[in-house]
Amino acid sequence: STPVVPTLSEITLAEPRGFCAGVDRAIEIVERALQKFGAPIYVRHEIVHNTYVVNDLKQKGAIFIEELDDVPPGATLVFSAHGVSRAVQDEARARGFSIFDATCPLVTKVHVEVAKLAKEGFEFIMIGHKGHPEVEGTMGQLDSGIHLVEDVADVARVQPAQTDKLAVVTQTTLSVDDAAEIAEAVRQRFPKVREPKQQDICYATQNRQDAVKVLSPQVDIVIVVGSPTSSNSNRLRELAQKLGTESHMVDNADELQAAWFEGKSRVGLTAGASAPEVLVNQVIERIRAYGAVSVRKMNGIEETLKFPLPKGLRIEPQA
Ligand code: F3S
Repeated sequence: STPVVPTLSEITLAEPRGFCAGVDRAIEIVERALQKFGAPIYVRHEIVHNTYVVNDLKQKGAIFIEELDDVPPGATLVFSAHGVSRAVQDEARARGFSIFDATCPLVTKVHVEVAKLAKEGFEFIMIGHKGHPEVEGTMGQLDSGIHLVEDVADVARVQPAQTDKLAVVTQTTLSVDDAAEIAEAVRQRFPKVREPKQQDICYATQNRQDAVKVLSPQVDIVIVVGSPTSSNSNRLRELAQKLGTESHMVDNADELQAAWFEGKSRVGLTAGASAPEVLVNQVIERIRAYGAVSVRKMNGIEETLKFPLPKGLRIEPQA
């Protein structure tokens, strides 16, 4: 039976939280490809970093692979929301797969900028997390001349071939505050560095972090719904913790532990950009079962951005 935590009173939901426009689009691309062409549909890498979403699509007939060697000839292949390198793009094309690109348009925007500036002779400092597929995809837009820095210490070590034409790019899902600090270190070491007009960190990452900044001081504990591989979800948990509020990330309601809530009254709840609302609702139900009596929504900005689907997967208007 569910343990009861008598101190619990209220759950406050962060606004905004959960799915962003890029995740929404990526999942819809796989679902529509399944409807239109039938199973199996091959997907390179987890379409978005969420266990529930990936398992749901597997059940519907998606096959997730890391290597193009594992895709049979003639198959339909979807690139994940994180984007892919030039090498992967070229190889997929050469093998003749029918390709749908679910790369978030805000990641593609960074790829386009890198390619454009590289033609003008620029080298790049990329702020991001080593090994993340988005970083591999963005760095893989060029054969060379793009240097990864993960923290301020890396900035001191990086060795570009020249410093006259240097530009900064970032992963879209970083901690806004950490990225600003690293960018400042880059600016100090390379005063001529060119920075993007608009930050590469996306609106969804920014908005979810801003919401946690408002939420954290109002509550005794923050729960983040997200998978361990999700960069932006991890950043939300870290941020709440940094602001002095105990914070835990859970992949689903079963990972909640009643002991976390003992002696606490107000619970803040948010979700990473790849975490579906169905999981948030299950977490709410579980915390209610522990004893929370009410749920309220924080005031926050409303997101209306929506990205168009690729040609070939749009619903044609009825004649
Ligand atoms: Fe795109 Fe940002 Fe979502 S880059 S996939 S809108 S987290």
